[in-house]
Amino acid sequence: MANLVVTILLISAAASATPAAAYTNYTVGGPAGWFFNATTNTSSTDFSKWAANQTFNLGDFLVFKTNSNQTVVQTYNETTYRSCSTDDSLDNDTFQYSGGNNQFGEALTIAVPLTIEGLNYYFSDADDGVQCEQGMRFQIAVKHGVGLPPSLSQPPPPPYAEPPPEGEAQTPPSTVPGGAQTKNHGGLSRGANVREVVCILLLCFGILSFY
Ligand SMILES: *[C@@H]1O[C@H](CO)[C@@H](O)[C@H](O)[C@H]1NC(C)=O
Ligand SMILES: *[C@@H]1O[C@H](CO)[C@@H](O)[C@H](O)[C@H]1NC(C)=O
Ligand SMILES: *[C@@H]1O[C@H](CO)[C@@H](O)[C@H](O)[C@H]1NC(C)=O
Ligand SMILES: *[C@@H]1O[C@H](CO)[C@@H](O)[C@H](O)[C@H]1NC(C)=O
Ligand SMILES: *[C@@H]1O[C@H](CO)[C@@H](O)[C@H](O)[C@H]1NC(C)=O
Ligand SMILES: *[C@@H]1O[C@H](CO)[C@@H](O)[C@H](O)[C@H]1NC(C)=O
Ligand SMILES: *[C@@H]1O[C@H](CO)[C@@H](O)[C@H](O)[C@H]1NC(C)=O
Repeated sequence: MANLVVTILLISAAASATPAAAYTNYTVGGPAGWFFNATTNTSSTDFSKWAANQTFNLGDFLVFKTNSNQTVVQTYNETTYRSCSTDDSLDNDTFQYSGGNNQFGEALTIAVPLTIEGLNYYFSDADDGVQCEQGMRFQIAVKHGVGLPPSLSQPPPPPYAEPPPEGEAQTPPSTVPGGAQTKNHGGLSRGANVREVVCILLLCFGILSFY
Protein backbone atom coordinates (compact mmCIF):
# COMPACT_ATOMS: atom_id res chain seq x y z
CA MET A 1 0.00 0.00 0.00
CA ALA A 2 2.76 2.45 0.97
CA ASN A 3 4.57 1.64 -2.25
CA LEU A 4 1.46 2.38 -4.25
CA VAL A 5 1.11 5.82 -2.66
CA VAL A 6 4.80 6.60 -3.25
CA THR A 7 4.44 5.55 -6.89
CA ILE A 8 1.39 7.77 -7.37
CA LEU A 9 3.21 10.73 -5.85
CA LEU A 10 6.30 10.16 -8.00
CA ILE A 11 4.25 9.90 -11.19
CA SER A 12 2.47 13.10 -10.25
CA ALA A 13 5.74 14.94 -9.53
CA ALA A 14 7.14 13.89 -12.92
CA ALA A 15 3.96 14.96 -14.71
CA SER A 16 3.90 18.45 -13.19
CA ALA A 17 7.58 19.21 -13.93
CA THR A 18 7.69 21.48 -16.99
CA PRO A 19 10.60 21.02 -19.42
CA ALA A 20 12.59 24.20 -18.73
CA ALA A 21 14.09 24.86 -22.15
CA ALA A 22 10.98 24.07 -24.19
CA TYR A 23 9.49 27.58 -24.15
CA THR A 24 10.83 31.00 -25.07
CA ASN A 25 9.90 34.50 -23.96
CA TYR A 26 10.25 37.01 -26.79
CA THR A 27 10.65 40.71 -26.03
CA VAL A 28 8.52 42.34 -28.72
CA GLY A 29 10.64 44.60 -30.93
CA GLY A 30 13.83 43.55 -29.17
CA PRO A 31 15.62 46.36 -27.29
CA ALA A 32 13.40 48.98 -28.98
CA GLY A 33 10.32 47.72 -27.08
CA TRP A 34 6.66 48.45 -27.86
CA PHE A 35 6.53 52.25 -28.12
CA PHE A 36 4.95 54.91 -30.29
CA ASN A 37 6.35 58.41 -30.63
CA ALA A 38 3.41 60.76 -31.11
CA THR A 39 5.73 63.62 -32.17
CA THR A 40 7.33 61.79 -35.07
CA ASN A 41 4.24 59.59 -35.62
CA THR A 42 6.41 56.48 -35.76
CA SER A 43 6.76 53.14 -33.97
CA SER A 44 9.95 52.32 -32.10
CA THR A 45 10.88 49.64 -34.66
CA ASP A 46 9.47 47.70 -37.61
CA PHE A 47 7.46 45.07 -35.74
CA SER A 48 6.57 43.08 -38.85
CA LYS A 49 10.24 42.75 -39.71
CA TRP A 50 10.99 41.81 -36.09
CA ALA A 51 8.28 39.13 -36.08
CA ALA A 52 9.33 37.71 -39.44
CA ASN A 53 12.71 36.87 -37.96
CA GLN A 54 11.45 34.59 -35.15
CA THR A 55 9.82 31.21 -34.70
CA PHE A 56 6.89 31.14 -32.28
CA ASN A 57 5.47 28.03 -30.59
CA LEU A 58 2.58 27.25 -28.26
CA GLY A 59 3.54 28.08 -24.67
CA ASP A 60 5.95 30.87 -25.62
CA PHE A 61 5.25 34.36 -24.30
CA LEU A 62 5.36 37.69 -26.07
CA VAL A 63 6.73 40.20 -23.57
CA PHE A 64 5.71 43.77 -24.37
CA LYS A 65 8.10 46.27 -22.76
CA THR A 66 6.03 49.42 -23.02
CA ASN A 67 4.23 52.14 -21.11
CA SER A 68 0.62 53.12 -20.67
CA ASN A 69 0.67 55.32 -23.82
CA GLN A 70 0.26 52.13 -25.87
CA THR A 71 -2.17 49.25 -25.57
CA VAL A 72 -1.73 45.56 -26.39
CA VAL A 73 -4.60 43.92 -28.25
CA GLN A 74 -4.40 40.26 -29.24
CA THR A 75 -6.86 38.96 -31.81
CA TYR A 76 -7.40 35.85 -33.92
CA ASN A 77 -9.67 37.80 -36.25
CA GLU A 78 -7.99 39.35 -39.27
CA THR A 79 -10.87 41.77 -39.85
CA THR A 80 -10.42 43.22 -36.37
CA TYR A 81 -6.67 43.45 -36.96
CA ARG A 82 -7.04 45.25 -40.29
CA SER A 83 -9.52 47.70 -38.75
CA CYS A 84 -7.04 48.78 -36.01
CA SER A 85 -10.03 48.92 -33.68
CA THR A 86 -11.74 46.72 -31.11
CA ASP A 87 -15.09 48.52 -31.51
CA ASP A 88 -16.81 45.73 -33.47
CA SER A 89 -14.75 42.84 -32.11
CA LEU A 90 -16.19 39.69 -30.58
CA ASP A 91 -15.44 38.78 -26.97
CA ASN A 92 -14.19 35.32 -27.88
CA ASP A 93 -11.48 36.26 -30.40
CA THR A 94 -10.05 39.55 -29.17
CA PHE A 95 -8.34 40.32 -25.86
CA GLN A 96 -7.05 43.59 -24.53
CA TYR A 97 -4.19 43.36 -22.05
CA SER A 98 -3.71 46.37 -19.86
CA GLY A 99 -1.77 47.29 -16.78
CA GLY A 100 -4.81 48.58 -14.94
CA ASN A 101 -3.97 52.26 -14.76
CA ASN A 102 -4.76 55.36 -16.79
CA GLN A 103 -1.62 57.44 -16.21
CA PHE A 104 0.24 58.45 -19.38
CA GLY A 105 3.76 57.16 -19.77
CA GLU A 106 3.82 54.73 -16.83
CA ALA A 107 6.20 51.82 -17.47
CA LEU A 108 4.53 48.46 -18.10
CA THR A 109 5.64 44.93 -18.91
CA ILE A 110 2.85 42.84 -20.40
CA ALA A 111 3.41 39.10 -20.94
CA VAL A 112 1.02 37.46 -23.39
CA PRO A 113 1.00 33.65 -23.60
CA LEU A 114 0.65 32.00 -27.02
CA THR A 115 -2.17 29.51 -26.51
CA ILE A 116 -3.67 29.07 -30.00
CA GLU A 117 -1.90 27.64 -33.03
CA GLY A 118 -2.00 29.52 -36.31
CA LEU A 119 -2.24 33.23 -37.01
CA ASN A 120 -2.24 35.57 -34.00
CA TYR A 121 -2.51 39.32 -34.54
CA TYR A 122 -1.33 42.14 -32.28
CA PHE A 123 -1.87 45.87 -32.32
CA SER A 124 -2.17 48.97 -30.18
CA ASP A 125 -5.58 50.58 -30.45
CA ALA A 126 -4.46 53.77 -28.68
CA ASP A 127 -4.87 57.21 -30.32
CA ASP A 128 -8.04 56.03 -32.13
CA GLY A 129 -6.13 53.57 -34.31
CA VAL A 130 -3.42 56.01 -35.44
CA GLN A 131 -0.68 54.08 -33.61
CA CYS A 132 -1.76 50.87 -35.33
CA GLU A 133 -1.95 52.52 -38.75
CA GLN A 134 1.51 53.99 -38.20
CA GLY A 135 3.18 50.65 -37.49
CA MET A 136 2.11 49.47 -34.02
CA ARG A 137 0.96 46.09 -35.32
CA PHE A 138 2.22 42.71 -36.47
CA GLN A 139 1.08 39.17 -37.08
CA ILE A 140 2.72 35.87 -36.19
CA ALA A 141 2.09 32.23 -37.10
CA VAL A 142 2.20 30.14 -33.93
CA LYS A 143 3.49 26.60 -34.45
CA HIS A 144 2.71 23.56 -32.30
CA GLY A 145 6.24 23.03 -30.94
CA VAL A 146 5.96 20.72 -27.92
CA GLY A 147 2.42 21.89 -27.18
CA LEU A 148 1.06 23.89 -24.27
CA PRO A 149 2.52 23.41 -20.77
CA PRO A 150 0.00 22.26 -18.11
CA SER A 151 -0.04 25.79 -16.68
CA LEU A 152 -1.61 27.15 -19.90
CA SER A 153 -3.62 24.20 -21.16
CA GLN A 154 -6.63 24.72 -18.92
CA PRO A 155 -8.65 27.77 -18.00
CA PRO A 156 -7.86 29.41 -14.66
CA PRO A 157 -9.90 28.03 -11.77
CA PRO A 158 -12.96 30.16 -11.07
CA PRO A 159 -12.55 32.48 -8.08
CA TYR A 160 -13.90 31.10 -4.82
CA ALA A 161 -17.53 31.99 -4.27
CA GLU A 162 -20.02 31.05 -1.58
CA PRO A 163 -21.90 27.96 -2.74
CA PRO A 164 -25.31 29.02 -4.08
CA PRO A 165 -28.45 27.92 -2.24
CA GLU A 166 -29.86 24.52 -3.31
CA GLY A 167 -31.43 24.46 -6.74
CA GLU A 168 -29.81 27.62 -8.17
CA ALA A 169 -27.83 27.33 -11.39
CA GLN A 170 -24.08 27.82 -11.09
CA THR A 171 -22.03 30.03 -13.41
CA PRO A 172 -19.92 27.78 -15.64
CA PRO A 173 -16.17 28.46 -15.49
CA SER A 174 -14.73 30.55 -18.32
CA THR A 175 -13.13 28.60 -21.18
CA VAL A 176 -11.74 31.56 -23.12
CA PRO A 177 -8.08 30.74 -23.93
CA GLY A 178 -5.58 33.47 -23.15
CA GLY A 179 -8.35 35.78 -22.03
CA ALA A 180 -7.07 36.29 -18.54
CA GLN A 181 -4.75 39.13 -17.74
CA THR A 182 -1.08 38.42 -17.43
CA LYS A 183 -1.08 38.81 -13.69
CA ASN A 184 -3.35 35.79 -13.37
CA HIS A 185 -1.00 33.27 -14.92
CA GLY A 186 1.06 32.65 -11.79
CA GLY A 187 -2.17 31.90 -9.96
CA LEU A 188 -3.29 29.72 -12.82
CA SER A 189 -0.38 27.29 -12.52
CA ARG A 190 -0.63 27.29 -8.72
CA GLY A 191 -4.32 26.51 -9.06
CA ALA A 192 -3.54 23.57 -11.33
CA ASN A 193 -1.01 22.19 -8.83
CA VAL A 194 -3.42 22.55 -5.93
CA ARG A 195 -6.03 20.67 -7.93
CA GLU A 196 -3.53 17.91 -8.69
CA VAL A 197 -2.68 17.52 -5.01
CA VAL A 198 -6.35 17.43 -4.05
CA CYS A 199 -6.98 14.77 -6.70
CA ILE A 200 -4.07 12.67 -5.40
CA LEU A 201 -5.29 12.98 -1.81
CA LEU A 202 -8.81 11.98 -2.83
CA LEU A 203 -7.39 9.02 -4.76
CA CYS A 204 -5.29 7.90 -1.77
CA PHE A 205 -8.20 8.19 0.64
CA GLY A 206 -10.34 6.28 -1.82
CA ILE A 207 -7.77 3.46 -1.94
CA LEU A 208 -7.33 3.46 1.85
CA SER A 209 -11.04 3.24 2.51
CA PHE A 210 -11.34 0.48 -0.08
CA TYR A 211 -8.90 -1.63 1.88
C1 LIG B 1 8.20 33.85 -19.37
O1 LIG B 1 7.24 34.75 -18.93
C2 LIG B 1 6.27 34.18 -18.05
C3 LIG B 1 5.23 35.25 -17.74
O2 LIG B 1 5.82 36.41 -17.25
C4 LIG B 1 6.97 33.68 -16.79
O3 LIG B 1 6.02 33.07 -15.95
C5 LIG B 1 8.04 32.67 -17.19
O4 LIG B 1 8.77 32.28 -16.06
C6 LIG B 1 8.97 33.26 -18.21
N1 LIG B 1 9.88 32.20 -18.69
C7 LIG B 1 11.17 32.40 -18.87
C8 LIG B 1 11.95 31.23 -19.42
O5 LIG B 1 11.72 33.48 -18.60
C1 LIG C 1 10.00 61.41 -30.08
O1 LIG C 1 10.90 61.78 -31.10
C2 LIG C 1 11.46 63.08 -30.92
C3 LIG C 1 12.25 63.40 -32.18
O2 LIG C 1 13.14 62.36 -32.48
C4 LIG C 1 12.29 63.05 -29.66
O3 LIG C 1 12.86 64.34 -29.43
C5 LIG C 1 11.41 62.67 -28.47
O4 LIG C 1 12.20 62.53 -27.30
C6 LIG C 1 10.71 61.36 -28.73
N1 LIG C 1 9.71 61.14 -27.67
C7 LIG C 1 9.70 60.04 -26.96
C8 LIG C 1 8.62 59.97 -25.93
O5 LIG C 1 10.51 59.14 -27.13
C1 LIG D 1 17.37 37.31 -37.53
O1 LIG D 1 18.18 38.36 -38.01
C2 LIG D 1 19.54 38.26 -37.66
C3 LIG D 1 20.27 39.50 -38.11
O2 LIG D 1 19.63 40.12 -39.19
C4 LIG D 1 20.11 36.99 -38.30
O3 LIG D 1 21.46 36.86 -37.94
C5 LIG D 1 19.32 35.80 -37.78
O4 LIG D 1 19.77 34.63 -38.41
C6 LIG D 1 17.85 35.97 -38.05
N1 LIG D 1 17.11 34.90 -37.38
C7 LIG D 1 16.12 34.21 -37.98
C8 LIG D 1 15.44 33.17 -37.16
O5 LIG D 1 15.78 34.41 -39.14
C1 LIG E 1 -14.29 39.16 -36.93
O1 LIG E 1 -14.57 40.39 -36.35
C2 LIG E 1 -15.55 41.14 -37.05
C3 LIG E 1 -15.62 42.51 -36.39
O2 LIG E 1 -14.34 43.10 -36.36
C4 LIG E 1 -16.87 40.41 -37.00
O3 LIG E 1 -17.84 41.12 -37.72
C5 LIG E 1 -16.68 39.02 -37.60
O4 LIG E 1 -17.86 38.27 -37.44
C6 LIG E 1 -15.54 38.28 -36.94
N1 LIG E 1 -15.26 37.04 -37.67
C7 LIG E 1 -15.29 35.83 -37.09
C8 LIG E 1 -14.93 34.68 -37.98
O5 LIG E 1 -15.58 35.66 -35.92
C1 LIG F 1 -16.69 33.31 -31.69
O1 LIG F 1 -18.11 33.23 -31.68
C2 LIG F 1 -18.67 33.27 -33.00
C3 LIG F 1 -20.19 33.36 -32.88
O2 LIG F 1 -20.61 33.20 -31.57
C4 LIG F 1 -18.23 32.03 -33.77
O3 LIG F 1 -18.76 32.04 -35.07
C5 LIG F 1 -16.70 32.03 -33.84
O4 LIG F 1 -16.25 30.83 -34.46
C6 LIG F 1 -16.08 32.12 -32.45
N1 LIG F 1 -14.65 32.30 -32.61
C7 LIG F 1 -13.74 31.65 -31.86
C8 LIG F 1 -12.31 31.96 -32.14
O5 LIG F 1 -14.05 30.86 -30.97
C1 LIG G 1 2.73 59.70 -23.47
O1 LIG G 1 1.76 60.43 -24.22
C2 LIG G 1 1.61 61.76 -23.77
C3 LIG G 1 0.43 62.37 -24.52
O2 LIG G 1 0.53 62.11 -25.92
C4 LIG G 1 2.93 62.51 -24.03
O3 LIG G 1 2.82 63.83 -23.57
C5 LIG G 1 4.07 61.81 -23.29
O4 LIG G 1 5.29 62.40 -23.64
C6 LIG G 1 4.12 60.35 -23.65
N1 LIG G 1 5.07 59.69 -22.78
C7 LIG G 1 5.90 58.76 -23.20
C8 LIG G 1 6.86 58.23 -22.19
O5 LIG G 1 5.88 58.34 -24.34
C1 LIG H 1 0.05 60.65 -38.00
O1 LIG H 1 -0.39 59.83 -39.09
C2 LIG H 1 -1.80 59.82 -39.29
C3 LIG H 1 -2.09 58.87 -40.42
O2 LIG H 1 -2.15 57.57 -39.91
C4 LIG H 1 -2.29 61.22 -39.58
O3 LIG H 1 -3.71 61.20 -39.71
C5 LIG H 1 -1.89 62.15 -38.44
O4 LIG H 1 -2.24 63.47 -38.75
C6 LIG H 1 -0.39 62.08 -38.20
N1 LIG H 1 -0.07 62.84 -37.00
C7 LIG H 1 1.01 63.60 -36.88
C8 LIG H 1 1.23 64.27 -35.58
O5 LIG H 1 1.79 63.74 -37.83
